[in-house]
Amino acid sequence: MRLVFLGPPGAGKGTQAKVICEKRSIPQVSTGDMLRAAKAEGRLPAELVEAMAKGALVPDDVVIGLIAERTLAPDAANGFLLDGFPRTAPQADSLGKMLAGRNVKLDCALALEVPRELLVERAVLRRTDKRTGQIYHLKYKPPPPDAVLEHRADDHEDIVKNRLDTYEKMTSELLPYYAKLGMLKRVDGQGTVEEVTQRVLQAIS
Ligand code: AP5
Repeated sequence: MRLVFLGPPGAGKGTQAKVICEKRSIPQVSTGDMLRAAKAEGRLPAELVEAMAKGALVPDDVVIGLIAERTLAPDAANGFLLDGFPRTAPQADSLGKMLAGRNVKLDCALALEVPRELLVERAVLRRTDKRTGQIYHLKYKPPPPDAVLEHRADDHEDIVKNRLDTYEKMTSELLPYYAKLGMLKRVDGQGTVEEVTQRVLQAIS
């Protein structure tokens, strides 16, 4: 199964991706996680660190290269879930061509839909456990006392609002793009994590 998760910052893509990937035994391929890992290891060029800190996108060729390489890894041979990629029409075109060149295709592009006012609260109160990568929320999914929490540099309110604007300008055009290809499934991302998981499973079944 080859899936794409679309949706604005804070929609729950990462949270749902972890559950679906475990159930379907496919890897979660998150460009955001890959870029943050490169930053933590000091491998991310300064201009990309700056773009992410402002809530802007990094250049298409950077993420296209990351995805091309990561999806060739042995654990992705039978499928993968792309979380946060593609985000622009050129990225979507490159993905389509890359998969066609490998004689495989996407099964579905799933869009998680959540109103903007909820997204800000979800992102600003998100915390991630550095050791496990587990995603928590200070209000909706409190972390255990032993978690080693990290507050993402781009999860401060003004930056979250920039990221939402970037999403509306750059990424929302992908919904009609995948709808035209007959691949788009829209899922209501409101409600508990478990309720949303049930809707996602139904949409991809
Ligand atoms: P990325 O890391 O991809 O961030 P994002 O798309 O902005 O998405 P988020 O990780 O913020 O949100 P999410 O939808 O995964 O929500 P989550 O599950 O964590 O990208 C970061 C940056 O990297 C970009 O700004 C850009 O600079 C760069 N980048 C990445 N990919 C790129 C690309 N392809 N091209 C160019 N640049 C790229 O949930 C959020 C919170 O809500 C959590 O606290 C969670 O616990 C909580 N929550 C989740 N579901 C629920 C629920 N149902 N009820 C209550 N709370 C919930």
